[in-house]
Amino acid sequence: ASVGVIVVAAGSGSRLGRPEPKAFVEIGGRSILSRSMDAVRGMSEEAALVVVVPAALVSAASAQLDELRMPAVVVAGGDTRQRSVAAGLEVLPPEVEVVLVHDAARVFTPPDVFDRVVAAVRDLGHGVIPGLPVTDTIKGVAGDGTVRDTIDRSKLTAVQTPQGFPRTHLVEAYALAAADFTDDAALVREAGHPVGVVAGSALAFKITTADDLERAEDVLRRQGS
Ligand code: CTP
Ligand code: MG
Repeated sequence: ASVGVIVVAAGSGSRLGRPEPKAFVEIGGRSILSRSMDAVRGMSEEAALVVVVPAALVSAASAQLDELRMPAVVVAGGDTRQRSVAAGLEVLPPEVEVVLVHDAARVFTPPDVFDRVVAAVRDLGHGVIPGLPVTDTIKGVAGDGTVRDTIDRSKLTAVQTPQGFPRTHLVEAYALAAADFTDDAALVREAGHPVGVVAGSALAFKITTADDLERAEDVLRRQGS
């Protein structure tokens, strides 16, 4: 397979406030880690899979993937998302040419978003990220807490994952990375490569807080799964 997916699930989930790491929190009886695999399985093309988890949970995660019958390389992450992605890149099979990096916490991301990103990376020959239009009015705020200005939201996009890149761009960006960034597109831009945007999905929301977990449970109820 020339496509590889790195699913990062090594965070602690401090904002969720559960004792267990976020990837092992269950929604309707299945872990976030396990549910995040549904989209990967639903891709129209088979992808090499790398799953990055907390060091203490490598074997527990491998067991969950075995249960799903999803062949994957499972590795321990680092103390930032960026380090976790780097750990995943290290073990990516050699034949992979297009790499998708995905947050396990975006459990309900539809498989067609993955397919769209892969197709656009191949088409454009550079990185592509899924985004949604910003619907809120966004204000710039000064240091003293007063509103400075209104940001033109037509020039903004709310970014999601999976973010896809030619492997060469991503590897170069990680080799050059000087600062810590919250997404891969920022590193790749920093390395001087273009990054495009394709349509994301409202279902690709990230489970970050307890409210998001409730939203996820609502989605399940509506899907009847
Ligand atoms: N992630 C990771 N390694 C880290 C930090 C984050 O693999 N050291 C992953 C998370 O598991 C998650 C994704 O990156 O799937 C997005 O991160 P976030 O939602 O911030 O998750 P956490 O860092 O776990 O949550 P928090 O910031 O609230 O602690
Ligand atoms: Mg985090």
